Amino acid sequence: MRKILVTSALPYANGSIHLGHLVEYLQTDMWVRNQKMLGNECIYVCADDAHGTPIMLKARELNISPETLIKKSKSEHTNDFSDFHIEFDNYHTTHSEENRELSELIFKRLSEKDNIEKKSIEQFFDVEQEMFLPDRYLKGTCPKCKSENQYGDSCESCGATYLSTDLINPISVISDSKPIRKKSDHLFFKLGDYENFLKGWLDGNRVQKEIKNKMDEWLSDGLENWDISRDKPYFGFNIPNEKDKFFYVWLDAPVGYIASFKNFCERNSRDYKEFWDKDSETELYHFIGKDIAYFHVLFWPSMLEGANFRTPTAVFCHGFLTVDGEKMSKSRGTFFNARTYLNHLNPEYLRYYFASRLTHNIEDIDLSLDDFVARVNSDLIGKIINIGSRCARFINKDFDDFLSPKIKNQDLLDVILNSKEIIVQNYEERNFSKNIRIISSLADDINKYLDDEKPWVKIKDEVNREYVHQVCSDGMNMFRVLIGFLKPVTPKIAEKVENILDCEKINWKNIDNILISRKINKYEPIIGRIDKESVEAMKKEAKGNK
Ligand code: MSP
Ligand code: ZN
Repeated sequence: MRKILVTSALPYANGSIHLGHLVEYLQTDMWVRNQKMLGNECIYVCADDAHGTPIMLKARELNISPETLIKKSKSEHTNDFSDFHIEFDNYHTTHSEENRELSELIFKRLSEKDNIEKKSIEQFFDVEQEMFLPDRYLKGTCPKCKSENQYGDSCESCGATYLSTDLINPISVISDSKPIRKKSDHLFFKLGDYENFLKGWLDGNRVQKEIKNKMDEWLSDGLENWDISRDKPYFGFNIPNEKDKFFYVWLDAPVGYIASFKNFCERNSRDYKEFWDKDSETELYHFIGKDIAYFHVLFWPSMLEGANFRTPTAVFCHGFLTVDGEKMSKSRGTFFNARTYLNHLNPEYLRYYFASRLTHNIEDIDLSLDDFVARVNSDLIGKIINIGSRCARFINKDFDDFLSPKIKNQDLLDVILNSKEIIVQNYEERNFSKNIRIISSLADDINKYLDDEKPWVKIKDEVNREYVHQVCSDGMNMFRVLIGFLKPVTPKIAEKVENILDCEKINWKNIDNILISRKINKYEPIIGRIDKESVEAMKKEAKGNK
């Protein structure tokens, strides 16, 4: 049995979960469910990322404390996730005692190794607000193309990146006042000390090739020291032995992975070191979006190595979600919050659709709304679910709910069962879309078998009773296997089918067991078709959302 710890990136506590986020949490959840079906110990943890300037400012704007804000967000986030059937073994927050202790411990060990350096730097300071301004809170004229109203780190007009101190006529976004330049001491993590370590770590096949190429680039450009401190006012953890200085949110955010797991261990009387000790033989995987690769493949492994923790087995990156080929947009009505979706549509439609688009690479994935409706209605419901309803009616009505004692078409059943290995492997390798194609083509084969045998015609003649009984029992068995193949993707559908069949919870071991001479329950509708009006209603609501 493998022992595996899995994480998704920790969503910020100042915003709602949207369908873009869900690409990641659904992908991870499906991967974890596959591991659990294999009988591996697979623990999936996550948390809210609760620190940083945006959260502090958002709380101010709402006139509540940051603590109140992050509490509210956490409960909203966990409701959204659970309504999408995303099953975390633990969901914590980075604003926790476990995280404070672990962040301090890691910082202490890095300091002892002389990996931390103090340096005075000059930044823009908002005199009215008495705070240093992060790049995103500065606007001004691009030093390169002279476009006005550009952010402090990059120009949206010409694409240039620059230092905020090079911005012309800078203005504080928070108070609209003109900031001054001010010096203060900052703490830096000397990432360059880990160059050799990172090269070795990378050689272990830890990231996709696109990310590997990027890392090679970063490594050959030379690794810069990383500023891990922020001045007050800030919502975060105080840095020990420093006055009014806080850990930068990206220092304690990934530590939140360990902290959430430690919290899980405390609740389950286990030792977190089993998974985090330097010589741990367990596996550790991080699922993330490509925008935060830098933090996860450079800083994070180096911090872990330096602080004498184990490093990740692999980091899995995914691309960004587009809707109808474009970035999600509030004005077009295509920026969908998780809750907006749930108000109109069944979560398993989206799980199925995302699975049909997800591969192991980092290309963006598109939610085309017309294709979404078509795929769900014609493939998931019209082809796959339909097999169950086609066959169960006869078993219920004509055969007293009993499955036949014999399988008729063993050949086809074998073809289906023989796909199990490749299906499991595709899930493992995150090639979900391949599985959807295989399952859909097997569904075609089964439907063809039923079309050829025509039980609805044959049942009319008493001499065919046994024959029809076997065909429909074949269909129910084949249906069960297909639904088992889909179980990591659509777990609630699987649960309903298990109830109808009155069978054991399907896993990768018992899936080969054939159901014969057994009573099933009455068929109940499993999932309905999408009607286009629901999609329109969702768009309308999204447009109205602020
Ligand atoms: N808080 C950081 C992560 C810290 S991990 C130690 C963060 N939060 S986030 O809320 O902005 O994003 C959470 C995850 O969702 C990230 O992996 C991010 O890449 C992913 N996505 C956010 N928007 C996305 C899309 N539109 N499409 C796909 N994934 C997206 O980053
Ligand atoms: Zn410019």
